[in-house]
Amino acid sequence: MAVAAALAQQARFCATLGAPFTGALCRVLATAVPPASRTGQRLAAWPGEPMTDALPMRLTGALHWLVRGGRAPGLARLYPPAPMPDDAALGAALAALFADAAADGAVSAFLDSPPQTNEVGRAGALVPGLLCVAAATGLPLALLELGASAGLNLNMDRFACDLGGVTAGDSASAVIVRPHWQGPPPPAAPLQVVARAGVDIAPLDAADPAVAERLLAFIWADQPERLERTQAAIALARRHPPPLARGDAADWLADALRPAEGVATIVYHSIAFQYFPPAVQARIIAQLQAVGAAASPARALAWLRLEMDDPANPALPAIRLTLWRGEGAEEHLLGHAHAHGAFVQWAGPV
Ligand SMILES: C[S@@+](CC[C@H](N)C(=O)[O-])C[C@H]1O[C@@H](n2cnc3c(N)ncnc32)[C@H](O)[C@@H]1O
Repeated sequence: MAVAAALAQQARFCATLGAPFTGALCRVLATAVPPASRTGQRLAAWPGEPMTDALPMRLTGALHWLVRGGRAPGLARLYPPAPMPDDAALGAALAALFADAAADGAVSAFLDSPPQTNEVGRAGALVPGLLCVAAATGLPLALLELGASAGLNLNMDRFACDLGGVTAGDSASAVIVRPHWQGPPPPAAPLQVVARAGVDIAPLDAADPAVAERLLAFIWADQPERLERTQAAIALARRHPPPLARGDAADWLADALRPAEGVATIVYHSIAFQYFPPAVQARIIAQLQAVGAAASPARALAWLRLEMDDPANPALPAIRLTLWRGEGAEEHLLGHAHAHGAFVQWAGPV
């Protein structure tokens, strides 16, 4: 797919996901990057498949990064919360930006690495899963996250969560997770996390200001609540650094999955499993099944995931829970959620 077609596709995607400004930016970018600019030359010679490489997101991330850093004042004047600009105004601001060699060079260099995000809103779909495990087992929890990115959701029990009227976490937290809730409420249960650890093949250190700025740049500029929530979660991660290892999820789990007596161990992941190679996926499942077979009511194992894996509802990530507590694998489809956690469609209690 050519770069212009990828930008047009991303424009439609953003529009349907509640990011009209970023959608318009993609639409205008399709024709606004001068072919002679450094960025234009890179786009023309892009060696990979633009959509697979998330090239539109790299571009919008680069522009947002410049705007947030005060390095693109002309474009910044059009960014939210300013009123939605028309395409002509966006085109003129982009023409001026790419005429500036420093800004053009910065955008071109920003394209080097793929986008990496850490979506805090997904805690709105994961925390109710934790509540289900806590309610079903009556045990404190040990959290093991696979594909944790910056590990922001390893602190999810420290967020202020309102899940259909059921509150969980720390009500005084600046990280507010309040998805639009559809369906019955999740079980109300005490959430006591006694251990936590995560892994990512490319972990992000949220304590590094440059890393944090890059993480924020990939959040669509017209979604201030996502930006605020992520900023608050980064600040929380600086106070409570998430224990995060660098490595492959299956390799790490082979060492990390040691369920303790008197604890429910929860292995979880969100929008990550699809990025693991098939052999890694198979090893993770085999490890969970083997350890799950030895689980008991006082040493429970849970596998919680928010992933695009429901053929009956391919548009929305499914919230699934497998619970082992000595009676074989108990499978639950807990519901579905918006990809960024804006809403949760809860199916019902476990
Ligand atoms: C789309 S991100 C999701 C991050 C986070 N779970 C969230 O919901 O915001 C997928 C993550 O999986 C990580 N990843 C990909 N392959 C991996 C592997 N084999 N082992 C561990 N992490 C991996 C990526 O580096 C990336 O951080």
